[in-house]
This record gives sequence, C-alpha cells and structure tokens, in this order.
Amino acid sequence: MAPRIAPSILSADFACLGDAVDAVRSEADLLHVDVMDGHFVPNITIGPPVVGSLRKHTDLYLDCHLMIDEPERYLEAFKKAGGDGCSVHVEVGHTAELIAQMRDLGLDVGLAVNPDTPYEAFEPWLDQLDLLLLMTVHPGFGGQSFIADVMPKVRRAREEIDRRGLRTSLQVDGGINEDTVVTAAEAGADCFVAGSAVFGAPDPADAARRIRTAATSAG
Ligand code: DX5
Ligand code: ZN
Repeated sequence: MAPRIAPSILSADFACLGDAVDAVRSEADLLHVDVMDGHFVPNITIGPPVVGSLRKHTDLYLDCHLMIDEPERYLEAFKKAGGDGCSVHVEVGHTAELIAQMRDLGLDVGLAVNPDTPYEAFEPWLDQLDLLLLMTVHPGFGGQSFIADVMPKVRRAREEIDRRGLRTSLQVDGGINEDTVVTAAEAGADCFVAGSAVFGAPDPADAARRIRTAATSAG
C-alpha cells in the first residue's frame, strides 16, 4: 500500500493557517487536526470552528484526532464543520457507542491508542475501523521524541489487519521524521502524521516529500 502523509497543523502558525495548508497541499494526503481539551491531555488547542474554516479553505481530507473526554458531545459538531474522519481514544471508554455514533453521522471511524495502552485494548474493534491511530508519543504536545517501543504493537496490528483482509489504515502519530518514518513503515504503518518535522522545516512541502520518499523505500 502506498504510504500516506498527514501533516499535523499543530506545529503550524495558527495566525496563518490557510497559508500553512497551501504550503503542504501538494504533498498532503490528509490534513491532521489535533483537538485537545485540557482534560484528556494537559493542553488546549482547537475545535469545530477551526475545522469549519479549514473546510472552506481546502478540499483536503480533514482527519480529526480528538484528544478529549466525552467525544460523544462533539462528534456531530465536527461532522457539521466538515470533518471527514474522527479518531476517538480507546482510553476514553464506551468505544462501541462512539463507533456507532461516528458511523451514524457518516464520519470515517478512527480509534486512537496511547503508547502504553496494550494491543488487547483495541483488538476487538479492528474490523470496524477505517483508521487505527497508534500514538508514538504521549499525546498532548508536538515536537516530542518517537517512542520505538510502540513498534511491536504496530507490527502485531499490521499482521492482524492483513490476516483478516481488512482495509483499515494504520496510522502512526508523534515524532515522525525522515528517520523514524523508516522504522514505522518497516513495522507496517501506512499513514504518517508529522507536525514539527513538516511545519518546522523551511520548506514544508519538501519535508513532507522527503518523509514520503523514506516511507516508500522502507515499506
Ligand atoms: C500529539 C499530536 C500529534 C502531534 C505530532 O499529541 O497528536 O499529532 O502534532 O507532532 P510531532 O510530529 O511534532 O511529534
Ligand atoms: Zn495527532
């Protein structure tokens, strides 16, 4: 499967978000939107109004990563704002209800998993997911270091996705750059979120292109 690149706007300049999107448009398969509520993670970012503004600006797939408690209260707002897919965290609980709600709303269904959360926590939901997001940093902040200890979980998820013949995309998020993407691609990831490595670079599109090239040669 060809690797997909998902620049995370978390590391972009929020005062010039439209320009940041334009700067990566040619190399982005999805646009990753990190939503944090100050409860599930110790940081606060953005919500549905910004997704609505992005929707007016771009036709890119809007991949909303919800690091929030009580996502059931906000899923409809993300859909109405123009989100294409949402990922809720398995650690939040009531996963069956959240998956059903996302399907009912017509959102692509993602499930996100923290680095310390075991394989067994998400395995029961695998065949209901469009996207499995395995965190390679502890969620909350951009610019952290890639946690390679997550790779056995990525490998195991890849094996199970292939064994069952599922179309679930396997996304990694956190500390992805030109080097670490090789490790993650070799473990079986096919979708790569990158924030600081893309928007911290002088030429964001070129940075994304390099990450794609490295992933392609490894995968
Ligand atoms: C972290 C977010 C990530 C973050 C990645 O909680 O979920 O999407 O933006 O940033 P980098 O690529 O800088 O680790
Ligand atoms: Zn994210």
